Amino acid sequence: MITKILEDNLDSISLAATALIAGRLVAFPTETVYGLGANATKDDAVASIFKAKSRPSFNPLIIHFNNILDVKKEVSWNDTAEVLAKTFWPGPITLILNRKTTSQISLLASAGLETIAVRIPRHHIAQTLIEKSGFPIAAPSANESGLLSPTNAQHVMKSLHNRVTYILDGQATEIGLESTVIDLSREVPAILRPGYITKEQIEKTIKHSVIEKLDAVSDAKIISPGMITKHYSPNTPLRINATKFIKNEKVIGFGPKAPPKSMNLSYSSNLDEAASNLFKFLHELDHTNTRSIAVMPIPEAGLGIAINDRLRRASSKD
Ligand code: TXA
Ligand code: MG
Repeated sequence: MITKILEDNLDSISLAATALIAGRLVAFPTETVYGLGANATKDDAVASIFKAKSRPSFNPLIIHFNNILDVKKEVSWNDTAEVLAKTFWPGPITLILNRKTTSQISLLASAGLETIAVRIPRHHIAQTLIEKSGFPIAAPSANESGLLSPTNAQHVMKSLHNRVTYILDGQATEIGLESTVIDLSREVPAILRPGYITKEQIEKTIKHSVIEKLDAVSDAKIISPGMITKHYSPNTPLRINATKFIKNEKVIGFGPKAPPKSMNLSYSSNLDEAASNLFKFLHELDHTNTRSIAVMPIPEAGLGIAINDRLRRASSKD
């Protein structure tokens, strides 16, 4: 198969929807990162996502919808879900909820778990694609499993060349970091993957504290395999919290004190800006003959928590 990049217009989105209806794979932009989409209700379409990404089949996928009514057909809704959805959807938060017995979602997509991860993205291409397809779309980030998430169409092309029928090109994504994954299927809400929406924002919204289970395992089974330590990795070795730099090492700086010639996630120490540059910079450096990458410290607060989570995994050798 030869992958074709389609520009952002209604004809392209219709063509991509037709491919999804035929059971093929389409990569598309969301406000966070690009997703590798397939019909979430068809096992064979979902199976081809795992194959294209070389993703272990125990790692479940996020199911993307374009309206709440459709979400409620698949999962048991609750009050916390209602408040979070009203506040943050469409947008970068993924809710884990119990699967309804009548759900049409492929069991393969949720790796046989009793829960399903659901999200309504706000990018217009994603929304129109779901609408034109007529079914929810299962979509992990559109990269080879374990490697860097894509924030533009070229990143997808580099990683999944000829393993996806179409890539809808929506330019660089707005946020550049994956959605926050929160488990609402248990008594106490638990953040399984930090993301753009912070713990503080969630607690303020639901007026209840939430726990973080980033490295937790339950019943000797991984709850959210995004927790696998090594993940989001460039091929080049990466050091984090670096304050001294080695010769020939490429530096990713943060803030006004970064070495003058380094790339800088944000000169003004703005975490939103840093999040949107993170994967882009890592992709760029991964492309060059860099021997190693050193990243300066990022404050461990607010969005910095999600940025540091990705950096720790990117630098992990496990
Ligand atoms: O921003 C995003 O979330 C992007 C865009 C494309 O929507 N998607 C994304 O998908 O990052 P992926 O597959 O790379 O990450 C999904 C995360 C994984 O950590 C997975 O283990 C977790 O969600 N997950 C999915 N279903 C789950 C479930 N039923 N229970 C617990 N964790 C789940
Ligand atoms: Mg991913």
